[in-house]
Amino acid sequence: MADRPFLTDVKTLRERARQHIEQGAVTPGYKADREVVVRLLNEALATETVCVLRYKRHYFMASGINAQSVAQEFLEHANEEQAHADSIAQRIVQLGGEPDLAPQGLVSKSHSEYVEGESLIDMIKEDLIAERIAIDSYREIIDYLGNNDPTTRGLMEGVLANEEEHAEDLVSLLQELGQ
Ligand SMILES: [Fe+2]
Ligand SMILES: [Fe+2]
Repeated sequence: MADRPFLTDVKTLRERARQHIEQGAVTPGYKADREVVVRLLNEALATETVCVLRYKRHYFMASGINAQSVAQEFLEHANEEQAHADSIAQRIVQLGGEPDLAPQGLVSKSHSEYVEGESLIDMIKEDLIAERIAIDSYREIIDYLGNNDPTTRGLMEGVLANEEEHAEDLVSLLQELGQ
């Protein structure tokens, strides 16, 4: 149609929206491979959940050894990882998938690891390693999505930016502790 160059005409858009309405937000114009995207998001969800648990453990351990400012940083990160997990789970449902939070599969699906760490420095270093793994794997997910699913891509770009801030926070903590 001349009045909407390069865009699908309104009549076709309306017809397509009526087909498969049970698929909710997933319309025939959805270009990505939905199953692959749901699988990648479930891996990201596992990564975030493992990160929540690791930061929570570190928060309580640091509180125990009276390292309050570091403990607060761990808690803040734990809460932000939980927020990431929630928005990823929400997007999985929107795509017609199911968020996989089965405890037995978490560690194998997660890209980052659950390492407890002995000293405060160990904990911060393990967190930094986990953030750097998340940063690399989320960047790959974003590259994979390309322009085929702008919503999921936008979500993961926001999460990635936040992980980069986390990594920076941890590096500052190490520097403050003379590492
Ligand atoms: Fe996160
Ligand atoms: Fe993070």
